[in-house]
Amino acid sequence: MYYPEELVEEIRSKNDIVDVIGSYVHLTKKGGSHMACCPFHNEKTPSFSVSSSKQMFYCFGCGKGGNVFTFLMEYENLTFLEAVRMLAERAHVDLPQMEYSEEAKRAAQFKARLYSANKEAAKYYFYQLKSERGKPAMEYLKKRALTDHTITRFGLGYSNKYSDDLYKYLKNLGYEDELLRQSGLVTFNEARGGSDKFWNRVMYPIMDVNSRVIAFGGRVMGAGEPKYLNSPETPIFEKSRNLYGLNFARASRKDYFLLCEGYMDVISLHQAGFSNAVASLGTSLTTQHARILARYVKEVVLTYDSDGAGVKAALRAIPLLKEAGILTRIVNMRPYKDPDEFIKALGAEEYQKRIDEAQNSFFYEIDVMQKDYDLADPEQKTRFFNEMAKRLLFFSEELERNNYTEALAQKYCISYDSLRKLVNRYGARGESVKVAEGSVQRQREDAKKRGKPGDGMRRSQRLLLTRLIEEPESFSRIEGIIGPEDFTEEFYHGVAGMVFEEYKEYGSVNPAKLIGRFEDAGQQQRAAELFSTKLDAPMDEQGRKKEFADTVVRVKQNSLDVQYARAVEQNDFAKLQRIIKERRELGKLHSSLNLG
Ligand code: UTP
Ligand code: MN
Repeated sequence: MYYPEELVEEIRSKNDIVDVIGSYVHLTKKGGSHMACCPFHNEKTPSFSVSSSKQMFYCFGCGKGGNVFTFLMEYENLTFLEAVRMLAERAHVDLPQMEYSEEAKRAAQFKARLYSANKEAAKYYFYQLKSERGKPAMEYLKKRALTDHTITRFGLGYSNKYSDDLYKYLKNLGYEDELLRQSGLVTFNEARGGSDKFWNRVMYPIMDVNSRVIAFGGRVMGAGEPKYLNSPETPIFEKSRNLYGLNFARASRKDYFLLCEGYMDVISLHQAGFSNAVASLGTSLTTQHARILARYVKEVVLTYDSDGAGVKAALRAIPLLKEAGILTRIVNMRPYKDPDEFIKALGAEEYQKRIDEAQNSFFYEIDVMQKDYDLADPEQKTRFFNEMAKRLLFFSEELERNNYTEALAQKYCISYDSLRKLVNRYGARGESVKVAEGSVQRQREDAKKRGKPGDGMRRSQRLLLTRLIEEPESFSRIEGIIGPEDFTEEFYHGVAGMVFEEYKEYGSVNPAKLIGRFEDAGQQQRAAELFSTKLDAPMDEQGRKKEFADTVVRVKQNSLDVQYARAVEQNDFAKLQRIIKERRELGKLHSSLNLG
């Protein structure tokens, strides 16, 4: 961490979490906390809560949580330091200038030079395209019906036939070999020295969301392999986090994005007026991509190629988008292959119609599945409806499930009653739901987690930490009984250590401050979970007391079991005897806690 802990804490304490989050999502006061529909996942009833007293947020639906820094890191996709800076500014806290370590400074400078080398390369390619030598490339782009305006907007270029002229050009500008190697623009080998990665190709600069050039794709003109050559990953180019066209799409003010497969799709869509088109490049859509999309829009309209590969890519993307809380619809471009071809053939207006008619992803999945069954064959037809019924179970809300059941019944000419009966039969059997690979996988993992003996224990440990934080007076009741070492899960153990220390020093615990000690959003979230565990049902004073006693004893019992196993392993008889004695006293402990 480059800022002193006290400063980070000062910044945090000067930014009230309710105010900050309230400026992004609509909060409604409910009891001691403020509630909203979670901005991180898709839901209809609010389970996202912001606590003024804890200065924390936590979603009981998806488990996201943390302090005010975590929120900004997740919502605005900032690093910890960026979140700190943003909130410092908001609260008018001055940050020291010399905050960087030497190493961090060097890394930042190196990255800045990588950006500038990429920018120079883009300018060079653009210039080449406009020059006499670039004629074939320009003709190629014109043949593909791109206007001058589009070419300039996307900064398209040409890498000429000389195999090292970009290298020489950049070297002349003062970029050293190591930097050029790491930029991915130049490759080096012993015999020939440096040579350009891109050679005789039409160049598509890839820009990040702030319109900085971070990489390139180069297309052969005509036939040849590979069709597109792309920059490798570099310190400034991470494929799974960048979307082509996002720098323009984010400003499009549309409430959905068009998600397509490639450079040309994005470019021709933008040229046709669809400035909300983006693409994941040279890789299939990732969870990170989906999360980034979710930051800008609640809906994505998929416009992947109509061929088999495109359908497969769509089926893979749907669950990822769903997971990120995005509503997905799929455009049918048939008989054309991709947006580029479609618009050339039928024009923008027809394409807009296809967007308006785009099919909801669930129907799309069912449609694709249907192709595996011959509905003229009664047996296959039966199997198809059974499969469909299982998938309908995915909708856990009854009303939604019934609506989909009704729609499918109508579409596939089966009576609503018989389809619903089928669905209910599977539901009663607790049939696992196979909507898409992703969610099946997740469900399996969930089941595994649930089955593990450790899960209830982890919950007890979380519950105990939450109680200690919410009611610091309970520390005195467990003094000498429970300490950080009784939290057997490694991460919990570390956090418990901080909690106990904090209590010793201040007599109370400030959860948001503890969360601030972690820089990683994932860890902040896990810590938040430890401070936000709720009882299953509301309880009166008596019930809460008993619950507390139960929890303490459970945690202690588990800790003793773990110690016991260790003592057995180590043949430590003295320790074994002590543990046995402590175990015997657990009953007494329970009643004293329950009464006391
Ligand atoms: P496509 O083959 O659909 O290309 O690949 P395209 O974008 O429609 O381009 P044109 O119209 O044929 O010129 C989709 C995307 O997959 C990546 C590129 O990002 C491309 O835009 N790709 C494809 C590669 O990275 N390398 C390849 O060799 C092919
Ligand atoms: Mn294509």
